[in-house]
Amino acid sequence: ITRIGVFTSGGDSPGMNAAIRAAVRTALYNGKKVTGIYHGYQGMIDNEMYEMSSESVSSIIQKGGTILKTARCMAFKTPEGRAQAYANVKAAGIDALVAIGGDGTFTGAEIFSREYDIPVMCIPGTIDNDLNGTDLTIGYDTANNTVIEAIDKIRDTAASHNRLFFVEVMGRDSGCIALNAGIAGGAEAILLPEKDTAIEELIDMLAQGATTHKSSMIVIVAEGDKNGGATNVAKRVKEKFDYFDTKVSILGHLQRGGSPSSADRVLATRMGYSAVNELLRGNNRATIGVRGSEVVTTPLEEALSKKELKLNEDLVEIAKIMAI
Ligand code: F6P
Repeated sequence: ITRIGVFTSGGDSPGMNAAIRAAVRTALYNGKKVTGIYHGYQGMIDNEMYEMSSESVSSIIQKGGTILKTARCMAFKTPEGRAQAYANVKAAGIDALVAIGGDGTFTGAEIFSREYDIPVMCIPGTIDNDLNGTDLTIGYDTANNTVIEAIDKIRDTAASHNRLFFVEVMGRDSGCIALNAGIAGGAEAILLPEKDTAIEELIDMLAQGATTHKSSMIVIVAEGDKNGGATNVAKRVKEKFDYFDTKVSILGHLQRGGSPSSADRVLATRMGYSAVNELLRGNNRATIGVRGSEVVTTPLEEALSKKELKLNEDLVEIAKIMAI
């Protein structure tokens, strides 16, 4: 390996910059050259590439978003798109790749690496924490902290007005953010994509809170919950439960921004460093992860095939008990 291409792809997450910085500096430390590829797979196809140096990643560890920009790219799903991408990668002298992103990024990396026999290591970067092969993804901790800050603020106003709030959080099909932020924010109920909660069941939980004279209530609704989002849930609850005045707050993309937490910066730095070292060691078509305190690697095929991600059932039980 003489030149490593680094890119971010899919939804951005806080800590991606720290991962880029670590990958670039580890590669340079080992005498390798580094090309930054803008806008993920789209930039590969459009030939948006530049030479990276140690200076080009200075003062970015604390920044949210990604200096390499990102995109969700449909063209890379076609053989023609990938052929164009490979032609550009080859012309740039890139002979290995570090891909930072979520499962779409992993899927693209797996196919591309097989098709063109180019080594690739992936780094899990997504606020959703929905990837196999790691306990944690880069950005998840920061997003949780952002959500908790928002819930705390909502609690202040909710308690002052004796209101019931439905707060919708991101996570796509994963309830990780909802569950974690729900516990940390003292939510009265949490609706998760992994658990079907009927509206009647939710109303029973809220009615229980009414008997103990709670001054406010917060229901966290994961965006992937089967009841169809916080607005819909609020409307249906309101029809039968009017103990409290009801409000809805959809947190949206603010959950993706902001300066990464200390935990995310360290996680991203370890992962960026390990991704390059694994490539140099001859590892290929795998993802970096952390299990407990260890950095591990998992073949992409395996990481992508184990589709079913399980929530921590203890946390689900704890959340229920804490809401009484
Ligand atoms: O995967 C990260 C994520 O923020 C999800 O939680 C959310 O469902 C999705 O991306 C939103 O995507 P976009 O920014 O493309 O609207």
